[in-house]
Amino acid sequence: MKEIDWSKLGFHYTEPDFIVRSAYHDGAWEEPYATKDKYLHLHVSATCLQYGQEAFEGLKAFRGVDGKIRIFRWRENAKRMARSAEGLYMQPVPEELFGKAIRLALEKNMDFLPPYGTDATLYFRPLLIGTTPRLGVGPGRDFEFIVIPSPIGPYYPGKFHCTTFVVNRHVDRAAPYGTGTFKVGGNYASSFRATEPAHAQGMDCLFLDAKYHRYIDECSAANFIGIKKSTNRYADRAQTATLTDLSTIEYLTPRSSAILPSITNDSLMTLAKDMGMKVTRRHIRLEELEEMSEAAACGTACVISPMSKVIDPENNKIYHLGDEPGPVLTKLYHALRDIQFGRAEDKHGWCDVIDD
Ligand code: PLP
Ligand code: COI
Repeated sequence: MKEIDWSKLGFHYTEPDFIVRSAYHDGAWEEPYATKDKYLHLHVSATCLQYGQEAFEGLKAFRGVDGKIRIFRWRENAKRMARSAEGLYMQPVPEELFGKAIRLALEKNMDFLPPYGTDATLYFRPLLIGTTPRLGVGPGRDFEFIVIPSPIGPYYPGKFHCTTFVVNRHVDRAAPYGTGTFKVGGNYASSFRATEPAHAQGMDCLFLDAKYHRYIDECSAANFIGIKKSTNRYADRAQTATLTDLSTIEYLTPRSSAILPSITNDSLMTLAKDMGMKVTRRHIRLEELEEMSEAAACGTACVISPMSKVIDPENNKIYHLGDEPGPVLTKLYHALRDIQFGRAEDKHGWCDVIDD
């Protein structure tokens, strides 16, 4: 076990012992292999550098209460990476190879798997890049698939607490039917001019749809979820605090062609339905935040990050959502974490359980 202060980890890179690599040349993938070398010998004209032919993923392994290791829904990440690859004219990584590479990255970096009870996890960053040298604008024929593991703690500082979000109408994350639905580096680089000023003020961004600036799209690295009830939201909070009847609660999440299909959101929607909530995916106007008792960002890195408020500076408007995580999101958060850490039955078969 490495000398790491696990409970102090944030969402930062800690150099692992090994990464895993596999190259695609002449129509075939090589067998994935582990290496200590973290540098690539890459041609300066590689399509990933020249034309942004790059896609990535994010998934986690958890040390459970029973000492077993659980890798959460990696097949969904493999499928999404294949979609991203097709979206950028890259060679999709076969699911079997993806799984093998994750397992190898785990086996070779066991010392970096945080112990149970620290709330830290081992994060895997699968990466796919185009390596063919090209000056003419177009896709390459050669690719490299890499898995970079790193132990991580919470994405936002603090364990499970509220963050302030800000709307920025001068920067769009992704266009309708553009690349927002793929997990590609360009979506993130293009958001920096909105996210960096927000982060400097301890906030994060909530992006609106790029066409009308009317509907909620998603956050910079997470989907949006809202919790709604038909009565006014203050009555709401009091009523839901007991959580006796969740059938009166609606779990809302945006429908948009510009957002990433989040695996966390998909899991939470399933759990919300299991709990008896109504789950709706539709266009959500920003002003509907007024009617929500709770709202949050959700994703692999941030799990559920409740929003305390959403600031809309152009309209001089602040939507208040509560300084503490609300009861419905808290229940969902624990339900998901309990499955991931082996404290609750994994009814949907989401975790690959590994004895070591
Ligand atoms: N949306 C964006 C833009 C993201 O970067 C992420 C993180 O991966 C998500 C949503 C959440 O997706 P997932 O739950 O699969 O991690
Ligand atoms: C994740 O949630 O896994 C992500 O990859 C989001 C972000 C850190 C890019």
